[in-house]
Amino acid sequence: MKVRIIHVPDMLKAASRKKEATVFMIPSFDKKSELEALIKGEKYYIHTYGCQANVRDEETMRGLLDEIGYRQTEKPEEATLIILNTCAVRENAEDKLFGEIGNLKRLRKQNKNLVFAICGCVVEQPEILNKMLRTFKEVNLYFGTHEIVNLYELIYEARTNKETIVCVQSKAGEVIEIEPVSRSNRYKAFVNVIYGCNKFCTYCIVPYTRGKERSRLFEGVINECRGLISQGYQEITLLGQNVNAYGKDLSEGKDFADLLEEVAKLGISRLRFTTSHPGDFSSKMIDVIAKYPNIMKFIHLPVQSGSNRILKAMGRRYTREQYLALAKEMREKIPGLALSTDIIVGFPNETDEEFKKTLSLVDEVKFEAAFTFIFSPRKGTPAAKMEDKVSKETKTKRFQELVKHLEKHIEARSQAMINKTYSVLVDGVSKTDKNMYSGYTEENKLVHFKACDYLIGKIVKVKIIESHTYSLIGEIIDG
Ligand code: SAH
Ligand code: SF4
Ligand code: F3S
Repeated sequence: MKVRIIHVPDMLKAASRKKEATVFMIPSFDKKSELEALIKGEKYYIHTYGCQANVRDEETMRGLLDEIGYRQTEKPEEATLIILNTCAVRENAEDKLFGEIGNLKRLRKQNKNLVFAICGCVVEQPEILNKMLRTFKEVNLYFGTHEIVNLYELIYEARTNKETIVCVQSKAGEVIEIEPVSRSNRYKAFVNVIYGCNKFCTYCIVPYTRGKERSRLFEGVINECRGLISQGYQEITLLGQNVNAYGKDLSEGKDFADLLEEVAKLGISRLRFTTSHPGDFSSKMIDVIAKYPNIMKFIHLPVQSGSNRILKAMGRRYTREQYLALAKEMREKIPGLALSTDIIVGFPNETDEEFKKTLSLVDEVKFEAAFTFIFSPRKGTPAAKMEDKVSKETKTKRFQELVKHLEKHIEARSQAMINKTYSVLVDGVSKTDKNMYSGYTEENKLVHFKACDYLIGKIVKVKIIESHTYSLIGEIIDG
């Protein structure tokens, strides 16, 4: 197998940070019409893992592929282009990916024209990329998260050459405005406001795979939202690894609270945002959320741990007390607020005492939703180098105990919703029960109810009649 290296990843370069954010527009590819002729009538298969940043990247890639005449297929056997858009945040995400590559690699033997591409965050890690190059001879294109802008050229090269193409430029990154976009939902849209992350929490790979924090221009975000509203979108989620850092790198004098307010004023029915780092969450933001009824009363506020020593070792830049004060201010100023969080158990050398601090924080805040994880060492991050004396069994036990604590509060909150009426945006037929439809309340609770197709994309009033831990059952009381 011959490998043509255009760029290889480098963790040190990925961690470099420059002050100014550069705004780039999409460059064109001079052999676009040749590529169009090559792939005429062909189909692509794309599978995305990981967070909304990847989901939104998939929409950009599909926009570019649809533009040149490719059609999407759900069946990899039919495709002449397979893209696996990967996530590196924890080890199990990588394991799943390797399983899927193993399943799909036979297709390359059956079709010489197949371009088998791996992109996204996994590719940004030098050691993992080398391992994949050694293990999977069938993959013939690797490209990084900064490379989507060169998608046409990369596919063209992989298709017309026998070599495996590797193009992963570890860099701070720039803002690249790419259009058209093929959105996966007609009523709910993701809008990027800031890319990358500068926080470097000691366990996290994201700052290395996604580059530095760089904000889109205020007007760019507003224009995209305005366009979505005119197309009939009901819900917009503003996206960033840390949306609260919005604007810090620009000279526009605007912050995330200003942006949120301006988008709310455009009149979208439902406005959400994710994710917020607790350290940057301003009182000004809380006031904006409280002021506008179309900003959903749901905040995802990852705490990670309830112990100050662990928070410090994680590099989270806030204390337990600061987090609790912030949650209290939010609950006081925003009636009906639902708070969700992320928690990591088993950070290196977490003691029983420290773990109990997390449990007591959970009992104090009474989160309405949570994602829980066991610490997964990520090569190249500081935490991966820490010696760890805590056994796997202890970590698993703590994990289960934490979930029990969380569920107690989540269940109580769900039960309190019975006999009350909530606004629900109808998503479509339920994934778990074909006789039911489903959608989310403003507080982001999943509800199942009887409906019909013409209500998809509409906001209806639903009375809750039954509650389960993670979902509710209700009936529509109007429409
Ligand atoms: N930017 C967001 C999302 C980061 S990834 C934020 O800061 O919240 C989503 C979650 O994955 C994190 O909040 C954290 O709880 C978890 N996570 C990240 N790295 C991890 C690791 N190495 N092991 C276990 N969980 C991790
Ligand atoms: Fe990772 Fe921390 Fe950045 Fe979130 S804020 S993406 S956890 S480094
Ligand atoms: Fe995963 Fe990359 Fe998102 S590592 S969580 S896909 S930023």
